[in-house]
Amino acid sequence: MVRFFPDYRSMSSVAADLIVGAGKGAFSTRGRFDLVLSGGSTPRLAYEIIAERYGDADDLWSATHVWWSDERCVLPDDEASNYRMASESLLSKVAVADENVHRIPAEEPDHDAVASRYAAEFPDTIDALLLGLGPDGHTASIFPGSNAESEFWAPFVAVEGPPSTTQPRQRITITPAGLMRAPDLIFLVSGEGKSDAFRSVFLSEAAPFLTARMARGSTWLVDRNSVAEFLSSL
Ligand code: 6PG
Repeated sequence: MVRFFPDYRSMSSVAADLIVGAGKGAFSTRGRFDLVLSGGSTPRLAYEIIAERYGDADDLWSATHVWWSDERCVLPDDEASNYRMASESLLSKVAVADENVHRIPAEEPDHDAVASRYAAEFPDTIDALLLGLGPDGHTASIFPGSNAESEFWAPFVAVEGPPSTTQPRQRITITPAGLMRAPDLIFLVSGEGKSDAFRSVFLSEAAPFLTARMARGSTWLVDRNSVAEFLSSL
């Protein structure tokens, strides 16, 4: 399903309700909510809205485990850290227990060991898995043509992005094997330069295998301004 929104805020508002709705459903059926947060900048407003709108849902948050789709290999207080962004916008405002915040310790030097340890604790059942879309069609840090893209066994690996990657290029990322642990993937798309990637995901057969194309049948919440060129070409 693809839903287009007139702006970033309306997309983020619906994303916030969708995420918490998934959490309430998981909590009522299995007493736990395993949420995988996306990195990048797009999800920040949705996280802030969740905190504003549902910050007092202590029953839900006390049963919530938070994971990440990927992390840059920086310290957790680095401005590039996906953990820092989520902590500032959401986790510092809701009652998720510290021991249930499963940060990827990507600052540690042995990136393969970090990926292996995180994979070992990553749950078999994920209730909501958030992702973004990069201009080259990557999602999480599964860059097209990287070792992560063809990894269908280990749920997390260490990877180095191409030179165009937002620094640092060294990442720990979920893989297609890890993505398959979620019944649905929720893509949040906003920001500059997403038209070509979006077109590749949904229309182009000739383009090299783009990871996000794996997720055509997922839930896409799209700020139409970020794919305006694509929409005007239809
Ligand atoms: C990361 C993300 C990455 C991101 C996309 C979109 O760590 O950078 O996991 O996949 O979601 O590159 O980034 P923006 O939301 O900043 O446009």
